[in-house]
Amino acid sequence: MTQTMIEVHKVAKRFGNNVVLKQVSLRLPAGQIMGLIGPSGAGKTTLVKAIMGMERVDAGETTVLNTAMPNRQIMQKIGYMAQSDALYETLTARENLHFFGELMGVHGAQLTAAITHVAAVVNLTDELSRRVRAYSGGMKRRLSLAIALIADPALLILDEPTVGIDPELRQQIWAELRRLKQQGKAILVTTHVMDEAERCDELMLIREGIALAQGTPAELKRAYAVDTIEQVFLKAGRLQDEN
Ligand SMILES: Nc1ncnc2c1ncn2[C@@H]1O[C@H](COP(=O)(O)OP(=O)(O)O)[C@@H](O)[C@H]1O
Ligand SMILES: [Mg+2]
Repeated sequence: MTQTMIEVHKVAKRFGNNVVLKQVSLRLPAGQIMGLIGPSGAGKTTLVKAIMGMERVDAGETTVLNTAMPNRQIMQKIGYMAQSDALYETLTARENLHFFGELMGVHGAQLTAAITHVAAVVNLTDELSRRVRAYSGGMKRRLSLAIALIADPALLILDEPTVGIDPELRQQIWAELRRLKQQGKAILVTTHVMDEAERCDELMLIREGIALAQGTPAELKRAYAVDTIEQVFLKAGRLQDEN
């Protein structure tokens, strides 16, 4: 069996009286792109943070690379892109990439080459010398993605990576994600963009903290007898409301 990169087992989480995750389980093997799809407030970021070990869960377990989370060493091996950019505004983009690259254990000529590569992937090659505070929102998203890629990690966790990014560059980023998948890397990506859902190998539809449906895009469309993932979502949501 393919190596398991992420295993989530019956995770539950509440903030006060607000139940945010209910019995959520998933498994992400190497060489797969899994999409976590759901409306704003569904619990996607909370689940991602639970997997990263950044958010304590009330029940269940999350395991990354066969290690129970939270675990600092494992956390450093994940290429993580948070939903809100965590960048050094007064530094240039190149300095940010250098700083985070070193933090993730990439040094010297290897780091220089990695910066050149990831900057090209997100179309920031000509903007590397500018300070991040002069960057637009979309440019900051792209730089955050480049940072997630800098150490060539075996596991990428990307929380809404393409928000504010124009369609052309979004295609380019998805092409890169496909390439990384071909190399055997595992990618967990959250989105509320339905056309991105179609590009994932495996989907988990989440709404009000409940995993509504899981499967390949084709399996889900067949199971709900509809033509698009958007329709799967609407139908699954209606069924949830009726119960
Ligand atoms: N730190 C927190 N404290 C209290 N409530 C939170 C916190 N983080 C998230 N929530 C709540 O949890 C729910 C799910 O949020 P989130 O995981 O960010 O959803 P999504 O990423 O799908 O938009 C929302 O109702 C949100 O208000
Ligand atoms: Mg979110």
